[in-house]
Amino acid sequence: MSPRHADRLDRLAPYLFAQLEQKIQDKRDVGIDVISLGIGDPDLPTPEVVVEELRRAVGRPDTHQYPSNKGRLGFREAIASFYEHRFDVRLDPATEILPVLGGKEGIFHICQVLLNVGDVALGTDPGYPVYTSGPLLTDAEPYLLPITPENDFKPDLGSIPADILARSKLLFLNYPNNPTGAVIEPGDTFFEEVVQFAKDNDIVVVHDNAYSEISFDGYQAPSFLATPGARDVGVEMFSLSKAWNMTGWRVGACVGNPEVVAAFWKYKTNVDSGMFDAVQAAATKALTDARDFPVEMSAIYQRRRDLVIGALRAIGLEPNAPKGSIYVWARVPEGHTSATFAEQVLNEANVVVSPGSSFGAAGEGFVRISLSTPDDRLREAIERIEASMRVTA
Ligand SMILES: Cc1ncc(COP(=O)(O)O)c(C=O)c1O
Repeated sequence: MSPRHADRLDRLAPYLFAQLEQKIQDKRDVGIDVISLGIGDPDLPTPEVVVEELRRAVGRPDTHQYPSNKGRLGFREAIASFYEHRFDVRLDPATEILPVLGGKEGIFHICQVLLNVGDVALGTDPGYPVYTSGPLLTDAEPYLLPITPENDFKPDLGSIPADILARSKLLFLNYPNNPTGAVIEPGDTFFEEVVQFAKDNDIVVVHDNAYSEISFDGYQAPSFLATPGARDVGVEMFSLSKAWNMTGWRVGACVGNPEVVAAFWKYKTNVDSGMFDAVQAAATKALTDARDFPVEMSAIYQRRRDLVIGALRAIGLEPNAPKGSIYVWARVPEGHTSATFAEQVLNEANVVVSPGSSFGAAGEGFVRISLSTPDDRLREAIERIEASMRVTA
């Protein structure tokens, strides 16, 4: 019998949470209260003005037809205005902004736009899994650069072997970073280095800007596009998912280099039929009337971050307090691997944390704790972890 799926699907790594998920289900099936700090999916609602705008827009029949792949001008203008206000980056709504159905869709499909069979896409280890699966499903090859405390979570671009570099066409980066929480500090010249690297090697940079609006301690994340020359070499995937609690809405934008944006648009006219106009109207509201909502969310996540960091320190771990993202990346105790620690926490505290190794081999020795859980549940989860660790010690 002929195979029921294409060979390229076999290249995808098995889903690493599968075993863990089965264990969680088994516990829940017998009535155990399991608290998940595993997934980065905001628990709080979308701002009311945004929901209200969707209600209004969905009642208008002119939003019910096929949207344009280019997106509504008003939505593109709102993104441009937000980028200017927040990042001091001026974007041309006509040529430098394209709506995407969430950052994930943008990251996956841009591989199809930029990579030929056998090309290499550079990403980071650990990193968001789509930097690997996107190239693999394009019959291209991912090459992952370790990001660890030793290199301050910035990939060593000088370490890429010459034969890999010669085939590299794309570099994925992501700051504030999932899963490590690493950020680009003021004065850090890493993005300048990236622009030069991209120019020297004819590589397109795709900066995944999913977490720029969640930041702590007064820190504000920059846009990659604010780096001199960045627009010549790359684009940024911006998303409303995390900062406006809109993961279910599937709203984002690919912004920056007009040639890449034009190629992506050409591609997308063949793949989807755009973003529901009512969703674009609501997202426009988020970027204008609810422009400062992410500041409120950041205060909530900062409080949760402090709770988690305090508890981890109390049990003898020494996590760095992240300045952005919605994750704490913590080294596991001596004698543990990522998986054995995650398993112990699940078995003894009925709390789910993500093993760092599930984000790449260089994530071994860490776990990721997501802050997207209501305060009372988060507090209970860390109390349970603390108690179980004391018993174990
Ligand atoms: C680093 C990173 N990029 C992109 C995404 C995708 O976000 P969305 O598709 O909801 O915009 C996520 C979601 O978790 C993420 O962590």
